[in-house]
Amino acid sequence: MDSIYGEYEPIMNEVLNDLHQRFNAINEKRRNETGEHFYEHIISRLKSDQSMREKCRRKGLPENTQSALCDLRDAIGLRIVCSFIDDIYDLVALVRQFDGVEIIEEKDYIRHAKPNGYRSYHMILKVHPASAAEMEISEFYVEMQLRTIVMDSWAALDHKMRYKKDIRNQNMIEAELKRCADELAGCDLSMQTIRDLIRQS
Ligand code: GTP
Ligand code: MG
Repeated sequence: MDSIYGEYEPIMNEVLNDLHQRFNAINEKRRNETGEHFYEHIISRLKSDQSMREKCRRKGLPENTQSALCDLRDAIGLRIVCSFIDDIYDLVALVRQFDGVEIIEEKDYIRHAKPNGYRSYHMILKVHPASAAEMEISEFYVEMQLRTIVMDSWAALDHKMRYKKDIRNQNMIEAELKRCADELAGCDLSMQTIRDLIRQS
């Protein structure tokens, strides 16, 4: 079977590479100016053909390129992991200034954590790559997640345990995960305060 992304897959990779390069440049610039990075690392992915088809079925959408690229908005995903909470908001402010990139949705799960304790800053970007200008689909969505290292650790463990939640004591386990998330959020705030103190001195 052909990829659900059809002829658009190379362009999707271009979109990812372009964003990678922009963030890299920002990070290097900051490191040269201040000796500190904006972020620790970036990971990016195109949602696999199989997961995209599964998601289309789950959402009651036809399994085609239109659904994958226009109705769903997380075919292209980028996650940036920062050391400190302030770096996340600084990066978001810089993304607002990116040429040719529109932020069409923002969810601040840092200030407003999900009920289960999940924290991250989510954005949906819309980009218009030059190489797609003449094609039927010329706009591409990118799901961005920005997190601290601490938030990323919690999300990784939560993700792992998500598949094992049909077990006894489920309520207790969820409450414990939430408690860990809240404790870790306290650590993130303390780390930020420590950095502020070091910078002032
Ligand atoms: P989708 O139908 O999944 O696209 O939901 P949505 O569009 O409402 O997006 P949302 O912002 O809730 O979450 C999108 C992504 O964030 C998920 O695919 C995960 O990568 C991450 N995420 C959201 N909630 C959680 C969570 O509780 N735990 C973990 N580990 N990751 C989460
Ligand atoms: Mg999603």
